[in-house]
Amino acid sequence: MAVGTSRPAETHGALLCQSDGPDALGIDPDDLPDGLVVADETGRVICFNNAAVRITTVSKADALGLPLDRALPLEDLKGRRWWTLTDPYGGLATRVGQPERNLLLPGGREVLVSARYVRECPTGPIRRLVISLRGTEARRRTERSHAELIATVAHELRSPLTSVKGFTATLLAKWERFTDDQKRLMLETVDADANRVTRLIAELLDISRIDSGRLEVRRQPVDVAAAVGRHIQAHIASGQSPDRFLIRIQRQLPDLWADPDKIDQVLGNLLENAVRHGEGTVTIEVAPASAKDDEKGTAVTVSDEGPGIPEESMGRVFTRFWRGSKRGGTGLGLYIVKGIVEAHGGTITVGRGPGGGAEFRFILPVGAPAYLA
Ligand SMILES: Nc1ncnc2c1ncn2[C@@H]1O[C@H](COP(=O)(O)OP(=O)(O)OP(=O)(O)O)[C@@H](O)[C@H]1O
Ligand SMILES: [Mg+2]
Repeated sequence: MAVGTSRPAETHGALLCQSDGPDALGIDPDDLPDGLVVADETGRVICFNNAAVRITTVSKADALGLPLDRALPLEDLKGRRWWTLTDPYGGLATRVGQPERNLLLPGGREVLVSARYVRECPTGPIRRLVISLRGTEARRRTERSHAELIATVAHELRSPLTSVKGFTATLLAKWERFTDDQKRLMLETVDADANRVTRLIAELLDISRIDSGRLEVRRQPVDVAAAVGRHIQAHIASGQSPDRFLIRIQRQLPDLWADPDKIDQVLGNLLENAVRHGEGTVTIEVAPASAKDDEKGTAVTVSDEGPGIPEESMGRVFTRFWRGSKRGGTGLGLYIVKGIVEAHGGTITVGRGPGGGAEFRFILPVGAPAYLA
């Protein structure tokens, strides 16, 4: 006769942790992206997930069952032992946890730690101490990219400002010694450099709006074909030969609701790039296309016959401050173009055009406001 013998309850750390709360939801601690360490009411580690192993480089078998201060010997940035300092089990009974803090693991590795004290009742003894650990690399990367942005901006602003300062100082000190032509030349340089600074600042403001998701799109019906025409007229007026441009506009374009100023900015940047960095004929094509999810949309393609973008750099053209050649400007134009197109719900790609040069193609969805749908 077989009688089911009940096995003694497993009290091994990991299982204890899994058989408790989280399991009710079907969540395995090892599935969590952040390090998770749980200690019981006596301060011994009963859960140490895979991410915690990766962050601390302490093995699960070593950590489980150890007192918290040995499994996770954290120190603050002044070298004080964090568990002694915060004393979760002996400290104030009203505390509910510790906010996220940057602490150090042995060997000086940084880790972001936050803790939650789970109590029987609001001011009762601690039943569980739940600690989450997070690596600092991602945060460091964004900090580094901000620092780089500031350094690049300072550098970009310095050279035109140095020239403005140099020419104005020279003119003020030696006004009588220069001929009218010389003075005019210097003032023209000052004017161009001041324009560069203004443009750079406008670009930086756009970038900060794009990066923080605050770029506002004020939609209204836009006639892209007319906008393309205006831009080309402006290039011709400023001295480009009309033969340089070829416009192909297909009939029966779908409606387009977009921010006309921002679409102007996109067209302006792409055309300026094609004229400045490309060569030969610049072809602009406007045609219907299907935007994401089969929605109707308008596709604009700008291609030229210049050297194009090298294959290995195509992934980088839309990043900020990337410029391919010495002739480049600040390298912000395409980053902003992409930000604007995406803020409209569109997409932009780069490739090689039929004439061998660069080909930029963006697709904007109709974007009709909800009250028209
Ligand atoms: N049509 C093109 N043909 C060849 N290279 C191009 C073309 N368009 C862009 N590029 C390359 O991509 C780089 C980045 O372009 P982007 O518009 O972002 O910056 P930029 O034109 O250098 O400066 P900015 O637009 O900020 O004044 C350019 O420096 C250039 O090397
Ligand atoms: Mg540009």
